[in-house]
Parts: sequence; C-alpha cells; structure tokens
Amino acid sequence: MNKQTQKVALVTGASRGIGAAIAQRLANDGFTVIVNYAENAAPAEALVRTIEQAGGHALAAKADVSDAADVRRLFDAAETAFGGVDVLVNNAGIMSLATIADADDASFDRQIAVNLKGTFNTLREAAKRLRAGGRIINFSSSVVALLQPTYAVYAATKAGVEAMTSVFAKELRGRDITVNAIAPGPTATDLFLKGKPQEVVDRLAKLAPLERLGEPSDIANTVAFLAGPDGGWVNGQVLRANGGII
Ligand SMILES: NC(=O)c1ccc[n+]([C@@H]2O[C@H](COP(=O)([O-])OP(=O)(O)OC[C@H]3O[C@@H](n4cnc5c(N)ncnc54)[C@H](OP(=O)(O)O)[C@@H]3O)[C@@H](O)[C@H]2O)c1
Repeated sequence: MNKQTQKVALVTGASRGIGAAIAQRLANDGFTVIVNYAENAAPAEALVRTIEQAGGHALAAKADVSDAADVRRLFDAAETAFGGVDVLVNNAGIMSLATIADADDASFDRQIAVNLKGTFNTLREAAKRLRAGGRIINFSSSVVALLQPTYAVYAATKAGVEAMTSVFAKELRGRDITVNAIAPGPTATDLFLKGKPQEVVDRLAKLAPLERLGEPSDIANTVAFLAGPDGGWVNGQVLRANGGII
C-alpha cells in the first residue's frame, strides 16, 4: 500500500458510487480526503466517520460543482481544514439518456452544467491553488468511444472533459502536476443501474471480454494508481478502465 502521509485529496461526488470508493481507497493509502457531495449529506458524513475510525483524516463538504462560487468555497474549506490540496478527483457527474429527438433542454443544460462546467470550475480553481507535485484525475466515460444511441449529450460532455484534460496538462507545464482522465465502462452504481431493466443490465455486463460490470473499487484502484507514486509519469492521457469493452 502507498502511504501518502499528509497529502490532501479532494474527491467530488464522493457520497456514493465510484466517488465513495475512491475516497475510501485514497484514505486507505494515507491521503487526507475531502468528501464532496451535492445533496446527500448522510452517506458523506458516514464515510468520513468510517475513515476517521480507521485512523484517517477526512471532511465532508457540500458543494454543487456546477456553481463556481460553491467550488471556490470547497477549496477554501479544504485549505482551512488541511492547509491545501494535492490531488483533485473530478468524479461528480450525472447522466440522462434520450435520443436527440427526445432530449429536453433542461437535461441537456444540467448535464453540461455538472459534467462539463463542473469540471471546468474545479480545474480553474486547481490551476490557482493545487500544490506542486499534485495530480488531477478527471472523469470521462467509455461511451465517448462506444457512441451508442441515446448517449449523445452525456458523451458530448465527456468528450469535452477529455479535450480539457489534454489542454490542461500542457497549460500546467512547469508546475509538476499531472492531468489525466479515467474513462470507465459500465460500473455498478446508481448512475448506471437506475431505470435499466435487469435484462439490459445483464446484456451490457456481458459486452466486455471480462464479462462483468465494473465495481466502484475497480475504478478506485485506477485512480489510486494515477494519484500515487507509480502513476507519476502518466500525463495528459485518457485511461479506459472498462474490462476491455472497447
Ligand atoms: N457508473 C458508470 O457506469 C460510469 C461509467 C462511466 C463513467 N462514469 C462516471 O463516473 C463518475 C461517477 O459516477 P457514479 O456512477 O459513481 O455516479 P452516482 O452513483 O450517481 O454518484 C454520483 C455522485 O456525484 C455527486 N454529484 C452529482 N451531482 C453533483 C454536483 N452537481 N455537485 C457535486 N456532486 C454531485 C452525487 O452526490 P449526491 O449523493 O449528493 O447526489 C454522488 O456522490 C461520473 O462522472 C460518471 O459520469 C460512470
């Protein structure tokens, strides 16, 4: 296990799903963790207690990543509590599926606001505030490559995240900060499972050669690699963690 003593990791959308697994894994690796959430305080607070009971350090912090002022306050809270931020994991995201013919304005605007503007908001703050030696891990999706019907808007937001990842890695030249994106495939969380009939879930689970859904811990392991010492030479890349689905 990599012991990252005194390094601080800010994980957006860490109350549930992949983000919660990332926060737990980085805490196990010795990071102090900011557990960000939008609405669900109770699971975020419970995760903080679990981390603290195991001897780690964590703080739950409410912020809507689509709101630039909220994001500034989130970084302020991290700095006040722990002195700074070393690792930013831009995990918060939402997905609503519809064909372009059926998609409504509100769901288009909200996915852009949370997935794309939310990532922009935290990157802009990180540009000013992340400490040298830092790591940034953005969240794309393998749907950017799979390009199935009904995924147009969501995939477009994630394609934008991939573009910002490559540009931002170059903009941080000289800062000793890496910027990468992880593109998970189907992973067993609310975001993927909600509203899908079991036969659809089963069919999608079989698509990857490894013939199962990803677990949040599979993705957290990949984040731990990029955030830890072994990932230090990987920069400006998109890493597909998807069991080989594409
Ligand atoms: N699951 C998959 O199959 C899959 C595949 C590829 C990529 N991804 C990406 O992986 C990331 C995590 O997804 P997941 O499956 O773990 O989703 P999830 O289970 O739905 O959890 C989403 C998390 O994001 C938070 N969140 C939502 N809107 C937010 C906002 N405006 N500001 C701050 N936090 C917000 C939620 O907080 P609350 O609890 O407070 O609502 C929750 O903690 C997303 O970026 C997603 O696009 C997922």
